[in-house]
Amino acid sequence: MATQRYDIVIFGASGFTGQFVVEEVARIADEEPGLTWAIAGRTMSKMQKVLEQASKKTGKELDSTPVLIADTTNETSMVEMCKQAKVILNCVGPYRFHGEMMVKAAIEGGASHLDISGEPQFLETMQLKYHNQAKKNGVYIIGACGFDSIPAEMGVVFISRQFKGEVNSVESYFEILSGPEGYALHMGTLDSAIHVVAHPLELRSVNRSLYPEHLPPSKHRVSERSAVFKSEVVGKYCLPFLGSDKSVVYRTQRYKHDVLKQRPIQFVPYLVKDGLVSVVGNILFGLLFLIMSSFGLGRTLLMKFPSFFTAGFFKKGGPTKTQIENSSFKMTFVAKGWSKTLEDPLSDPQEKPDTILTAKVAGPEIGYITTPICMVQSALVVLKEADKLPKDGGVYPPGAAFLNTSLIERLNKHNITFTEVKD
Ligand SMILES: NC(=O)c1ccc[n+]([C@@H]2O[C@H](COP(=O)([O-])OP(=O)(O)OC[C@H]3O[C@@H](n4cnc5c(N)ncnc54)[C@H](OP(=O)(O)O)[C@@H]3O)[C@@H](O)[C@H]2O)c1
Repeated sequence: MATQRYDIVIFGASGFTGQFVVEEVARIADEEPGLTWAIAGRTMSKMQKVLEQASKKTGKELDSTPVLIADTTNETSMVEMCKQAKVILNCVGPYRFHGEMMVKAAIEGGASHLDISGEPQFLETMQLKYHNQAKKNGVYIIGACGFDSIPAEMGVVFISRQFKGEVNSVESYFEILSGPEGYALHMGTLDSAIHVVAHPLELRSVNRSLYPEHLPPSKHRVSERSAVFKSEVVGKYCLPFLGSDKSVVYRTQRYKHDVLKQRPIQFVPYLVKDGLVSVVGNILFGLLFLIMSSFGLGRTLLMKFPSFFTAGFFKKGGPTKTQIENSSFKMTFVAKGWSKTLEDPLSDPQEKPDTILTAKVAGPEIGYITTPICMVQSALVVLKEADKLPKDGGVYPPGAAFLNTSLIERLNKHNITFTEVKD
């Protein structure tokens, strides 16, 4: 007889983010009658503390929540955990060090796997190495289901759905809004980001293996902007956004082009800054981060004195409750394309794009409120809308996996809103 599987198992529950994901699942369980879930990690006493705290924060009775013990250094424990889950929510990072073992165990144990990685090297490597095996075993491995990169991915899906005609390009403008105490992220994200920055060449090589052939060159390339510019869309200064969104959205566009034979969209993300001082601060911080991440002592110093070297943006204890409560984000998407449906969506028309559409995605604090909401709603979609996911399983970016699902409608109901901007 098949083992009874929990609908959701939250792995890495004792982490800073894992705790918030547990609380989100505890809240959502009321809306989802019959949902079964468990938490998992490597230390029983820590798991019990997680449940106590989640119970205090949510007011729910969580004493009897099942606990599974698993450690990424112990393969058997990982496979055993996966055999007891339909969907694993993996909050153990850096994914570069812990993620591959988890993905292998999920495929072997027959569980789908969602993570909140913002590490393009890891995400692309998993697709390169495990897509066929995941497909064969009928499980979905969907990375980047947190703030990285659900708002960007589903923002592009949303604006394409609203667009009457064919989209050629989308530019996005991402802004963090915070209160007087400012904003911060926990060390787990710093640790992951350091290793992304430390290995830039790796991404180029895995990307070349994943996509040996380039997309056909576009006749209407989205116009290049200078490194810093004042945007007519948001009325503020902007810089290229160096997070993982660009790489994740590109993979979805490759899926659309290579598998669905649909027109790929050019995607260019920008980061919005309030004024020139903030722009200069950002550039200086970026340079310092790049230099320090590239050698061992620099990485050690960053991890030892995060607040000092990042002006408080990364903190050992993570953001305070007030910082979280007073923070939010806004992303503005501008799509350009043709008002008519093209006869051959894969070849460019001679005429220039003639139509523009603007949309907004907005939500609460990115790391520990928006991320758990995105991750948990994505898991519910995997559980409930299997018929709308790509056929048979595989390794996918979220835009490809959730293209035809109700994820946007679900997020709209849970405080992450997608709206078209009308003139
Ligand atoms: N996409 C987004 O927007 C977003 C937002 C937030 C976080 N994240 C990502 O989420 C990840 C976690 O961040 P965090 O700040 O929550 O980190 P964290 O507080 O350091 O948590 C790490 C977790 O991993 C567990 N762990 C470490 N080694 C393990 C092992 N060998 N076996 C099993 N579990 C192990 C830890 O367990 P112990 O308690 O036993 O040490 C802990 O539960 C990072 O990669 C971060 O970038 C992404």
